[in-house]
Amino acid sequence: MKKVLVTGAGGFIGHHLTKYLVEKGYWVRGVDIKLPEFSSPVANEFKLLDLRRTDNCLEAVSGIDEVYHLAADMGGIGYITQEKAGIAANNTMINVHMLEAARAEKIDRFLFSSTACIYPLHLQTTPDVVPLKEEDAYPASPEEGYGWEKLYMEKLCQYFNEDYGLETRVVRFHNVYGPLGTYQGGREKSPAAICRKIALAKQTDSIEVWGDGKQTRSYMYIDDCVEGIYRLMRSEHRQPLNLGRDRMVSIDVLVEAAAKISGKEISKDYDLSKPQGVRGRNSDNSRLREVLSWEPSITLEEGLISTYRWIEKRVARDSQIEQDAKDETLVSTSMQ
Ligand SMILES: NC(=O)c1ccc[n+]([C@@H]2O[C@H](COP(=O)([O-])OP(=O)(O)OC[C@H]3O[C@@H](n4cnc5c(N)ncnc54)[C@H](O)[C@@H]3O)[C@@H](O)[C@H]2O)c1
Repeated sequence: MKKVLVTGAGGFIGHHLTKYLVEKGYWVRGVDIKLPEFSSPVANEFKLLDLRRTDNCLEAVSGIDEVYHLAADMGGIGYITQEKAGIAANNTMINVHMLEAARAEKIDRFLFSSTACIYPLHLQTTPDVVPLKEEDAYPASPEEGYGWEKLYMEKLCQYFNEDYGLETRVVRFHNVYGPLGTYQGGREKSPAAICRKIALAKQTDSIEVWGDGKQTRSYMYIDDCVEGIYRLMRSEHRQPLNLGRDRMVSIDVLVEAAAKISGKEISKDYDLSKPQGVRGRNSDNSRLREVLSWEPSITLEEGLISTYRWIEKRVARDSQIEQDAKDETLVSTSMQ
């Protein structure tokens, strides 16, 4: 039985990927700086380690055949525009030490999770942008902080392959969403943030939308994401590969799709002062189809159903906990 390591197994994609690999029969070690937030760990072994430290990376890879490296300091557009220094420094440390540890342990395959944020900003200035092809990454002008750090790690993967023979795979995700993802606290992405706002809204209500709602993105459901990651790991493709859906939708359409599932009448309050990221972004999946003979197919309307229902339940649970705490305070004050 192959032994694999999933870093970031306490996070959204890492947790789903761990479950997928365990079900496929792999022995999986999950590593993260925190436990999974919304469920128990599903890995055969789960270690709490800070991967910014070399010794912890060596412990993480010990006895492992393949590494799926997903651990990163990251979040939605609000977080990545405000925390450039922390994100770039933390992720650089994690990535360099993980690659070095993989080389020292003679790991068979090492997959790195990159992002569509590595693509040049000047190619993403209108809502109806041309879908991004892998080779569009250069000449480079990525997202400040997060994008630069990911692009540099893509290069490190290439160098470790060329100079040390480490078999590296690089996947560029385009907006992944689904149940068990962060939905509050500042690190959440747009689908989760919008589902949370709608779940909190009254039957007829308005929600705050960042920007003018015309900015566009493509969204990939988590089940497609883990399938694509696995297929890429098994392929012989060493160059970076897009992994996303190639249907571009505006934030307005995203809000309307989630509102429809909720059954509520939702209007939008646009806040132009909030960060919006690039004006438009879409994935060109030509190479993905060629390399993996497959592409993500779960529609936004399908994927949002389970995502919205899960967030709705979490929001109801959070409100109940808040209410119970208030009631308890009232009781203890009245007894004094
Ligand atoms: N979700 C997306 O839409 C998306 C898009 C592009 C790229 N990615 C990349 O995919 C990967 C997984 O993303 P996610 O959405 O699951 O994010 P996530 O934040 O849910 O998961 C990342 C995990 O890394 C862990 N981590 C952070 N610092 C660590 C440290 N020092 N040591 C050990 N673990 C640490 C976090 O605790 C977290 O659990 C990341 O590399 C991210 O950059 C995600």
